[in-house]
Order: sequence, then structure tokens, then C-alpha cells
Amino acid sequence: MIYVCGIIACSSQRHQRVAPILKAGLSRLEYRGYDSVGIATLDASLIIKKDAGKLDEVDKKLVLDSLPGKIGIAHTRWATHGPPTSINAHPHVDCKEGVAVVHNGIIENYIEIKTFLISKGHAFKSDTDTEVIAHLMEHHLNEGENSLEAFRKTISSLKGTYAIALLTASDPQRIYFAKKSSPLVIGVGEGALFAASDIPAFLDQTKKVVVLRDGELGYFSSSELYIEKDGVQVKPRITTVNWTPEMAQKGGFPHFMLKEIYEQPLALENTLKIREESLEKVARLLLSSEKIVFTACGTSFHASLWGYHEFLRKLDKFILPVISSEYSHYLHLIDENTTVIAVSQSGETMDVLKFVAGVKKRDAKIVAITNVVGSSLAREASETLYMQAGPEIGVAATKTFTGQVLMMNLLSIVTQYFEGLITHQEYQKVMRSLAELPSIISRVIRTVEPRARRIANEIKRSKSAFYLARGHNIPVAMEGALKLKEIAYIHAEAYPAGESKHGPIALVEPDFPVIFVAPRDEDERRILSNVQEMKARGGKIILVTEPNSILIEHAHHSFVLPYPRSIYYRPIQNIIPLQLLSYFTATARGLDPDKPRNLAKTVTVD
Ligand code: AGP
Repeated sequence: MIYVCGIIACSSQRHQRVAPILKAGLSRLEYRGYDSVGIATLDASLIIKKDAGKLDEVDKKLVLDSLPGKIGIAHTRWATHGPPTSINAHPHVDCKEGVAVVHNGIIENYIEIKTFLISKGHAFKSDTDTEVIAHLMEHHLNEGENSLEAFRKTISSLKGTYAIALLTASDPQRIYFAKKSSPLVIGVGEGALFAASDIPAFLDQTKKVVVLRDGELGYFSSSELYIEKDGVQVKPRITTVNWTPEMAQKGGFPHFMLKEIYEQPLALENTLKIREESLEKVARLLLSSEKIVFTACGTSFHASLWGYHEFLRKLDKFILPVISSEYSHYLHLIDENTTVIAVSQSGETMDVLKFVAGVKKRDAKIVAITNVVGSSLAREASETLYMQAGPEIGVAATKTFTGQVLMMNLLSIVTQYFEGLITHQEYQKVMRSLAELPSIISRVIRTVEPRARRIANEIKRSKSAFYLARGHNIPVAMEGALKLKEIAYIHAEAYPAGESKHGPIALVEPDFPVIFVAPRDEDERRILSNVQEMKARGGKIILVTEPNSILIEHAHHSFVLPYPRSIYYRPIQNIIPLQLLSYFTATARGLDPDKPRNLAKTVTVD
């Protein structure tokens, strides 16, 4: 079994019971998985409550808050194989129920370990790889090791990826932890310490964090933190994050997704604060490279495609966009003269990390564009550009897409300046104009929302939709289609508008939604014939365009966005109505856009 999961652990002298803190943390980690949950606390002995289902459902049945104890671990799970059942839910325990463990990742050699432990008389209850960790710890404790040594030995036997938190009755004040390739951060509060897959899980308790690195392990109590790597003690690198707990909550919105759509002006403002030196360093790297390769998955890939179109139009170089999971087919093109721009909001997407690991062996330079400080991708890259969009909880990426596109635009502008393609005056002018972007996007969101809501009601029963565009608008159409698919479960296809006549138009019948991303650029006239051919077949034409477009009179509905001061506004403002259209279509169909079926926010498996 493999998982994308969230874990949280806490040891506190400040609280009567840690169970409510763990439960609150789980609710903020549910984006990492939500098919089963569990909590273990240690009072006089270990007490465990776990079951299949979303947190609210399990809590209703088991009243998770009621667990006693000032120390505990918890888990929310997302299975990709095998049924989500109570037995397979974490925490997992050893034979004597003296050890409990939660884990995110995959123990690749669990079958060998399990076979060994069974030969020593251990009895397993679940089908999971994780359970071997609890039994292995028990095995080393039985052999007379102290808890730390038993934990060290346990971890040294594991192959694969893991973020682990472990409780043992043999050492009731401490939580043991270890990290390799799966994210794990420590929170350092007054009289209480935490470990979690992500910072928002404990942000209401502390803003002081230690981002663990691969290979680190250790323990914490309510007042002590010990970390080591390769047997040598490591001084905790405590940093203070500036996110408020409210930023990680819904802030009055019915869903995280809507909140995050509305947060885009603020997120863009933060992205614009990036230091020019960081952009300059990357721009020089790009100009000194023979080849530029963009890589990412999903929404981040669409932002990369925008970057690809933008750089292709400006630079005379070999430039290629590659979906990260396809990396093996492109490796031979990548060498020491290549810069790879790896884009991932989480910085933990396994496909992207594997791509990066592969191209590093070929001496390519790596630039990361990510939202998560200290993420695995950031650590692998020689240069990192942080979007600073704040935590994104909704499974559907919204504010991180616009942040990524803005970052691509900033990078393109600086690169053009260094290449002598624009003058210093032009450079300053375009940079200054971008400062207005957040307030324009804020206005766009407010003005298009009512129309998006109305159109969503009209299309909510559609089985399928097309998203059409030309040239550099195609990535935005692709992103619009992905949003509709993933949260409204309506089949949506994006392709270059000129392709319709080669097949897809056969699907068009009365009321079939055809969404055109068609700003007033050089393709406007050519898009007109595509609009007309769809309309002639009864298609419902929905337009994203700008004032006085020749297309408006042919459309059933038009989102008319402000004529942009700079072309760099376009992808960012054009995606807004499409994000809102998907959101309202999902809610009109009675779906929860924050928890789309079969998806997890961070995909740490390949
Ligand atoms: C976005 O709405 C998706 N849920 C998904 O495609 C996502 O963009 C993809 O998994 C990549 O994630 P990352 O940016 O964290 O690497």
C-alpha cells in the first residue's frame, strides 16, 4: 500500500489533553488525504482511536477529542491501493500495543522486514507497510536497547520514503521522529512541541518552526528537542514563519478554494516582493545556458507552458516543456548546458523530484519555483524563486497558479533586459505597471463572480465542455479545463481552437459549452471563425475577452475583462473567471470543491 498522508504529533505541558490539538491539526492536513483518520495518545497506557472515513465522520463516531493524555500522534490517510479500512488506518501498533506509529511515505523493503519479524514471532494485523515500523521498534526494545537506540536501529533498516512520528510506552515523555523524502516540520511552542507534515497543522499554537532535512531523526518532549543526522547531534534551525493561523483557515468563506481565489491579489502582491537579485541570478543562468527545460505536473505544468510560450517568443534558444512523469523520454536531451526550471507549488511532488534527481546526474542546473520554504524541491535546486503565496489548502490550485505565472513573467522581463531586448526605461516601465496588477485582479474577481455563478447554473448539467484558445492563451484554456474536471467532474478538453475541424467538433450539439479564452490580441480575427463554427452547431459560446472585442456579439455569455496595461496581466486575469466558473459549477452540483474524489493536494508517489 502506498499513501499520500498527513501526520501531526504533540507533547504538551500547557494543555490538559493534546487530542483536541491533534484533531484541529488533522482538519488542516486533510488536503493531504481524507479516507481514514486516527489518533493515539499516551496516558497510563497507549489509547488509539481510528477508522475509515473523513475526519468529521470518524469524529462523530469516536469522539476523538475525548482521548486523555498530554502526548499523542495522529494521521490522515489517502490510499492509492487497497481499501481504506479501520485496520489499515494509522496509527499502527506492535504486538504488545506499547508502540504506536504514524507514517507518510512508502517503506519499499517492508516485505523483507515483515518476513524477518514474523520469523521472530510477531503477528501483523494490517496490510500496510507502516506496521513493520512499530514491530521493528518492539523487536529492538525486546533486545534491551534504550528507546533512542531502538529507534535509530529501526530507522536504519528502512528503505524508501518516510516522515514518521512514534510513541512508545517505554519512554512516555517523548515523541520520536524521522524524515526521508517526505515532508516533516517541527513546531517549537512554549511548553509544547509539535511535528507535522506541514506548518498550518500547528500554526495556531506556534510560528517557530524547524524544517527537518532528509536523514534527520530525533525526539521531542514538551520542552526539549533533540535532532541528529548520521549519529551526530544537529543544532535546531529555528525560523519564524509570518503566516497567521487565520491565513490557514477558511476566513469566513464556505470553501478554501473560494477563499484562495479571493486571496490572489494579496498573494500576487507577495510574489512581487521577490528580490530583484534572485531574479537576476536566474536570468543570468538562463542566458548562459544553451537549453532551457520547464518541468512540472498538473496546474504547475500549465504555468510552465505559459513560461515556455513566453520565453520561446523572446529568446533564441532551445526551449522545451516536459511533463515531469515523462522525464525518462527526454533525459538524453539534457546535459550540463541545460537549465531546468522545475515548478511545484508544494515542492514535494514525487514526479518532479524524480525528474530533478535524474537531470542532476546529467549536471543540468536546477531552478525551483515553489511556494513552500524548505521543501524537497527547494533543497535540490541551485536557485529557488519562492512565490510567497501563503498556504494553499484547496486541492484545486488557484493562487499558486497565478503566482507561478507572475514569477515566469518577472523572470522573462529581467531576462529580456539582460539580453538587451528591452531598454532600462522599458524594463522599469513594465515592472512599475505590474505593481497595479493586484488591485486589478481584486476588481476582476469581484466583478466576474456574479456572472460566473449564473453561467455555472446553466452548464451544471453538461456532460462535457471545450476550452479553446490560440497561441500563448492555450495554457490558460488548459488550466480552465483542468479546474472544471477536477472539482465539478465534468469532462473538459482544451486544445488549439483551429483543431476543432479535425475531429472534436463532432461532439458539439445544442447547449454544448464552448469556452474561448480570447483576449484582443493578434489571434482575435482567427478566433472569430472558430466561434462561428461552434455556434453554427448549437454550441453555447462563453467568452473570456476584453472591451470592444469583435467576438462579443457572437457569444451567449462574455466575461469582459479590463484591457490590460501590459500583456503580462493577461494570463493572470483571464484565469479568474474560469476558476470561479469551476467553483460555482462544482457547488451547484452539490460537490465539495476542497475535497475532490480520488485526488490529494500533494502527490508524493509516482
Ligand atoms: C491542481 O489543481 C491539481 N490538483 C494538481 O494538478 C497539481 O497542480 C499537481 O499535482 C502539481 O502539484 P505541485 O504544484 O504541488 O507540484
